[in-house]
Amino acid sequence: MDKKVKGIGVLTSGGDAPGMNAAIRAVVRTGIYHGFKLYGIRKGYDGLIHGDIHEMDSRSVSDIIQKGGTILQTARSPMFETDEGMDKAMRVAEVYGIDVLVVIGGDGSYRGARDISQKGMKVIGLPGTIDNDIACSDYTIGYDTALNTVQDAIDKIRDTSYSHERCSVVEVMGRHAGYIALNVSISGGAEALLLPEMEHDIERDVIKQIIEGRNRGKKHYIVIVAEGVGGAVQIAKAIEQKTGVEARATILGYIQRGGTPTVRDRVIASMMGARAADLIKEGKYNRIVAYKDGQVTDFAIEEALKMKKGIDQDLVELSRILSL
Ligand code: F6P
Repeated sequence: MDKKVKGIGVLTSGGDAPGMNAAIRAVVRTGIYHGFKLYGIRKGYDGLIHGDIHEMDSRSVSDIIQKGGTILQTARSPMFETDEGMDKAMRVAEVYGIDVLVVIGGDGSYRGARDISQKGMKVIGLPGTIDNDIACSDYTIGYDTALNTVQDAIDKIRDTSYSHERCSVVEVMGRHAGYIALNVSISGGAEALLLPEMEHDIERDVIKQIIEGRNRGKKHYIVIVAEGVGGAVQIAKAIEQKTGVEARATILGYIQRGGTPTVRDRVIASMMGARAADLIKEGKYNRIVAYKDGQVTDFAIEEALKMKKGIDQDLVELSRILSL
């Protein structure tokens, strides 16, 4: 029979995302409410391997809900991918009395969680990444804040694009996923959009759009390029050469990962964090907390890792139509 869970360790792993602190706070406070001991593990799985661990009480998560980044800091841990690293992590967890790990991060972090669960650790995953690319969940912690950060930047870029009658090529994050790019192409009124999920042709998808737009009376243009497609500077040069429209590239970069989390990120992160502690209370482990159809729910980790998430073709079409 399962030994009774006493200690919960919480860590953030992979790229940071605004709202992770709200999730940590909810795990800690709901966990304490259910009678568990809570431990913060710093710098992701590396902190578990090296024993960078401290007990957390309710006050240790005061004044963090409004902060971007993660108070526990984060890392990608190559050592945790080895058997030796994972065995060390298991021994350290035992010393601290950590029976369950709550991992806030993306797919790569879940694979680590799944692997250590196969060594006997109980795990719960929470989706934390600005990319919104966790297949089992409609929403990931940090996505809304990142969208709003990008939107704010595009609005500013549009001002100067208008003044100079230029084309602005804006590269947004998403190495493998175009959810940020697709949504801001609609909210930012882009003339053209390039996503990593779709094959693309600069002539057809960018140059032609600008020339046709100019023929319809447009004088300035926004082109959104996802990081996974890349090449914003080269695309801007091609636009200048082939259309004669002056073009400038802006690569938004890491500004998209920081900043004060929006209300939506704080509330969903709080609901997800509480759900993680509730699952542990109910004796349910090795699950990924998700947000589906407006509800917080959860999936078995193996099932979650097999799921696939596509790009919404209706939104792609909407973006195209609205650029007329
Ligand atoms: O957080 C997600 C993300 O921003 C991706 O869009 C990007 O590819 C990646 O993280 C880059 O992160 P890092 O440079 O920290 O590895």
